[in-house]
Amino acid sequence: MEYRALGRTGMRVSVLGLGCGGFGGIGSASELFGKGEDKQTAFALMNHAWDAGINYFDTADSYGGGASERMIGAWLRERKVRDRLILSTKVLYALGEGPQDRSLSRRHIMAAVDGSLRRLQTDHIDLYVTMEPDPATPIEETLQTMNDLMQAGKVRHIGASNITASQLRDSLAASDRLGVHRYQSVQNGYSLLDRAIEEELLPLAAKERIAVTPFSPAAGGLLTGKYRFGERPPRGSRVDLRPEPYRHLMNPGTFQAIDALRSSATERGVDMSTLALAWVISHPAVTSALIGPRTVEQFRPWLEAVEMHLTTDEREAVASRMEAAVA
Ligand SMILES: NC(=O)c1ccc[n+]([C@@H]2O[C@H](COP(=O)([O-])OP(=O)(O)OC[C@H]3O[C@@H](n4cnc5c(N)ncnc54)[C@H](OP(=O)(O)O)[C@@H]3O)[C@@H](O)[C@H]2O)c1
Repeated sequence: MEYRALGRTGMRVSVLGLGCGGFGGIGSASELFGKGEDKQTAFALMNHAWDAGINYFDTADSYGGGASERMIGAWLRERKVRDRLILSTKVLYALGEGPQDRSLSRRHIMAAVDGSLRRLQTDHIDLYVTMEPDPATPIEETLQTMNDLMQAGKVRHIGASNITASQLRDSLAASDRLGVHRYQSVQNGYSLLDRAIEEELLPLAAKERIAVTPFSPAAGGLLTGKYRFGERPPRGSRVDLRPEPYRHLMNPGTFQAIDALRSSATERGVDMSTLALAWVISHPAVTSALIGPRTVEQFRPWLEAVEMHLTTDEREAVASRMEAAVA
C-alpha cells in the first residue's frame, strides 16, 4: 500500500480510502435504508481493507440512517485498531424529521458530533467533514463551531465535501479572519466521467496544500464496464437501486467513452476499473480515492491500481481517447 500526507494535518493515509456509504443503505437515501451491506458483509469488507493496508475509512452520520457508523464502531471494538485508523465522518443531513435536522448550524453540529462519537464508539474523529455547504448558516458559525470541537478534542481536523473552488476560497479566508482552523481536505466526485474539479478546485487545493480525497472514482460503478447502454442494469446494482444520480450519464456518448476506456485497458492488459482508478490517484493533487467495493472480490482491481502509476501524458492519452470516442 502507498501512503500519502493528508494535507498539512501530519496524518498519512493510504492512497485508497474505504468508502462505507454502502453499509446499511446506499448513502444518505432514506428510501434505501436497510438495503445496503449487512453487518457481516461490512465486517468482511473492513477486515479485507485493513489487512490490505487501507488505514482510512470514510462514512457519514446519515449513511444508512446511522447504520454505517454503528457497524464501524462495532468493528473497531472487535479489531481494536482505533489508534491506527484515520476515521472520517460527515455532518449535514437529517437523521430525524425536525426543522433543525439538516444544517451546519452550531446547534445541529454540536448534537450531530455526539451522535457520531456514540455510534462510532470512539472519543474523537480524525477528519470531520461538512457534507456540503449550508447556505442558511454563515460559514463563520460553522467554522467557529468546528474549531470549538477541535479544542474540545472531539475532532482532530476538518474537511469539506461537495464544495466549489470559490466556496473553499471564502471559507479559507473566513478561517484566517477568525483565527480558527481551516479545512484541511476536500471530498468531491472525481472520475474519468466527472472532471469538473480539474479546472479550479484541484489547483487551489494544491496551492493551499489541502488534501483531495475524491469519491466515486468509478462513477458509481459505470467505469467498471458492468452497464450496457439500453439494457436493464444488473439486478441489485447501484444504478438499479439508485438510478437518479446517474441518469445524466445514461446516453450513447457515455458508453462510447466507456468503450474507449475498455480498449485502453485491454491494450495495457489491465482491468478497466484498475485503469480508471489509477487515472484518479495518479493526479498529483489527489491524496486518496474513496472506493466502494460491495464484496471482498471487488477489491482486486482497486488494489491493483495502487501499483499502476500513470504519467501526466499517459493520463491525458486515456482521457482524450475517451473524449474522441464520443460521436
Ligand atoms: N461526499 C459525498 O457526497 C459522497 C458521495 C458519494 C460517495 N461518497 C463516499 O465515497 C465512497 C465511494 O463512492 P462510490 O460508492 O460512489 O464509489 P465507486 O467506486 O465509484 O462506486 C461504487 C460502486 O461500484 C461498484 N463496484 C465497486 N467495485 C466494483 C468492482 N470491482 N466490479 C464491479 N463493480 C464494482 C459497486 O456497485 P454495485 O452496487 O453495482 O455492486 C459499488 O456500489 C462512498 O462509500 C462514500 O464513503 C461520498
